[in-house]
Amino acid sequence: MDRLSQSPTDPAFVQDPYRFYACARASGDLVFWEEYGMVAATTHRAVNAILRDRRFGREIPPELAQPVPERLAPFYAVEAHSMLELEPPRHTRLRGLVVRAFTTARIEAMAPDIDTLATRLVSAFPEGPFDLLDALARPLPVTVIARLLGVPEDRTSDLLAWSNAMVGMYQASRTRETEDAAVAATLAFRAYLEEVIGNRRTALRDDLLSRLISAEADGDRLSADELVSTVILLLNAGHEATVHSIGNGVKAIVERGLGSAARDPALLPTLVEEVLRHDPPLHLFTRYAYEEVEMFGHRFRRGEQVACLLASANRDATVFPESDRFDPARPIVTNASFGAGLHFCIGAPLARLELSRTLPILFAACRELQIANSPRYADIYHFHGLERLMLTC
Ligand code: HEM
Repeated sequence: MDRLSQSPTDPAFVQDPYRFYACARASGDLVFWEEYGMVAATTHRAVNAILRDRRFGREIPPELAQPVPERLAPFYAVEAHSMLELEPPRHTRLRGLVVRAFTTARIEAMAPDIDTLATRLVSAFPEGPFDLLDALARPLPVTVIARLLGVPEDRTSDLLAWSNAMVGMYQASRTRETEDAAVAATLAFRAYLEEVIGNRRTALRDDLLSRLISAEADGDRLSADELVSTVILLLNAGHEATVHSIGNGVKAIVERGLGSAARDPALLPTLVEEVLRHDPPLHLFTRYAYEEVEMFGHRFRRGEQVACLLASANRDATVFPESDRFDPARPIVTNASFGAGLHFCIGAPLARLELSRTLPILFAACRELQIANSPRYADIYHFHGLERLMLTC
């Protein structure tokens, strides 16, 4: 297996990780990524095979678990009940209870609300250059997930701040400051949600939070800790990635003058998939091998970690011909942006709905959208998203 060196904090890499991914794929399905000190899956088939293989999982094997420093305990106490961090049987139980409450019909019923919200945000765009992230991409997903859950919308700016601070824990270059901010955000988020959940328990409504409170399978319910962790997960996962999918997608469309594709209902489904495939916000997820596994010429030992490069899988030209090209009419083949296997994104239908309602509204209202200043990606690898997207309408 080839050993490749690429710092994840190198500014040129953060701006364009796809060049490195192309080299990595040319080296093979698996490469050893020196800076991460682990094997990385580079191709569509390798990423999918590992994510779907039950001999790999997200939860750390017990013999490798390190004691959590006392000062980080509040953060890890929330993670301890997050389905994203768990494997069966706990994952199966939590995901089952959430799926019961988070139905397709409930998600689809959000369409008129998303339309109204997107229209209101778009009609408030100023005359001169404006940041699309602040004006649309950030407020829309957090408001939608808060409404769906039934968490008061007057606190969306706190939700954004708490969630941002918490995802800082996944940064490649994490500092004491990032950790302290994440813990402070966790404590504030938790205290706020405990109050909201306490009130809702006494007066259930027609919202996701009430359904999570009463969701039951085989006489089993979510415990108080599981409920808090699940709501934090849904709120955080429910907007961070969508913000940057909208930002990266609008950038790609405007740069190529493809606004008419967003106004064409026949092209909309393929356009949305292309936005999700071409420049996704989440590039790397790791898995542990739970037993010795021979795959693509490598023998994984128990406890070995592997990085699944979702964004590299999406540029695999054996599956997506001319994969670097943004093609709004590209035939749909499942891309890796939402992952695969047991942890496949629960919010994928909601994210697709948000993109497919918002893009036509944006490009119908602003037929002459132009880039005002060349956009830069934020200097962090764990979220591949723009610092800002300055546009004129
Ligand atoms: C374009 C937007 C989104 C992207 C690219 C995205 C991506 C992902 C990915 C890659 C995973 C799997 C991680 C892994 O396998 O380790 C995941 C899981 C998850 N996502 Fe999303 N997501 C998006 C939007 C959403 C939304 C809107 C919600 C919520 C309402 C959501 C909720 C979740 C949850 C709860 C999980 C954990 C599922 C599990 O562990 O079983 N996501 N997402």
